[in-house]
Amino acid sequence: MPDATPTDFRPSFNPEPWVRPNIRTLTPYHAARDDYHEGILLDANENSFGPAIPTGLPLHRYPDTRLNDLRQKWADFRGIQMEQVFVGVGSDEAIDLLMRVFCEPGRDEIIITPPTYGMYKVAARVNNVGVTEAALTKNFELDARTVLNRVNPHTKLIMLCSPNNPTANVLNQAEIERILKDFKRLVVVDEAYIDFSDSGSLCHLMETNPNLVILQTLSKAFGMAAIRMGAALAHPKVIEWMMKVKAPYNVNRLTADAAMQAFDHSESMRDKIRQIIAERNRLASTLAGHPDVQTIFPSDANFLLVRMRNALHWYRRLAERGVIVRYRGDQVHCEDTLRITVGTTPENDRLISELHDPENAPDH
Ligand SMILES: Cc1ncc(COP(=O)(O)O)c(C=O)c1O
Repeated sequence: MPDATPTDFRPSFNPEPWVRPNIRTLTPYHAARDDYHEGILLDANENSFGPAIPTGLPLHRYPDTRLNDLRQKWADFRGIQMEQVFVGVGSDEAIDLLMRVFCEPGRDEIIITPPTYGMYKVAARVNNVGVTEAALTKNFELDARTVLNRVNPHTKLIMLCSPNNPTANVLNQAEIERILKDFKRLVVVDEAYIDFSDSGSLCHLMETNPNLVILQTLSKAFGMAAIRMGAALAHPKVIEWMMKVKAPYNVNRLTADAAMQAFDHSESMRDKIRQIIAERNRLASTLAGHPDVQTIFPSDANFLLVRMRNALHWYRRLAERGVIVRYRGDQVHCEDTLRITVGTTPENDRLISELHDPENAPDH
């Protein structure tokens, strides 16, 4: 008898009918290294004499197209299979690719749940895909019924974000599961901030919900925003469609090497998370004593959403004083709010002292 595989990948699941017709029939670019990658490499018009800059690295060679070693590391870290991992240029690449693979421009649409991360809408607009908004409740909670009521025959993706940016809260899992069950297409849950939360990733739900796509990134808890490395975790058949459409050498060699190392340093990542959470709690309790601060929303992330009187004044005044935060008062249900990333202890101290400096006060 063959060994049982840990996940059977739901062999009957087939997302092909959800794929845009021109993608279904696409013959993908065949990279030079897909067939042979060892020996005297005269197949890809690289510079055989090496890179222009003095470095010990083989920068003259194209990077691997499938990055199975990195995908395996990501999979091991999350307890899933390598075939369930797509890696790309930040999770922003995965957001864009999902729209390009599954949404017909000029006809299809996505649902987003504002207030939320702005790139879902931007990527949709770039791809000429419609955007329907199903706002979170006033308490920033997900209401599955509100979202499902907005579904129409052209809805191809539902984009959720948990912990949500800019509200910092984890979305209710039961509501997410209800959407997964009732929506017969892909549901994307962006977990960019998940490692700051006690709730844990929803990766395990992929076994029973093959329509779940999870986005993750090395930009936040791993502290590696500069290398631009993100992932989509999904059923292998969804991943294969994304692999088919991606640019052949989407992830560069330097990024791939750094990303491989990240998973060998997960203890250091966890240590920094502990420090950030301690600073977040300190910042929250100190801010609470400021006369203009009205509400500090609970945070499962590395930032705080703060409602305060004169929010726009504080946003501008802090910037003049060299402390840059994000004004979010123009977002649904976020009137008079600032989104403040948790900084280092001296950075947070400086923020606090600027907020308490009488010269910065609105009536000065
Ligand atoms: C919710 C969310 N998803 C994704 C991203 C971007 O991730 P990446 O750097 O991997 O493109 C951000 C960045 O702020 C974010 O807030």
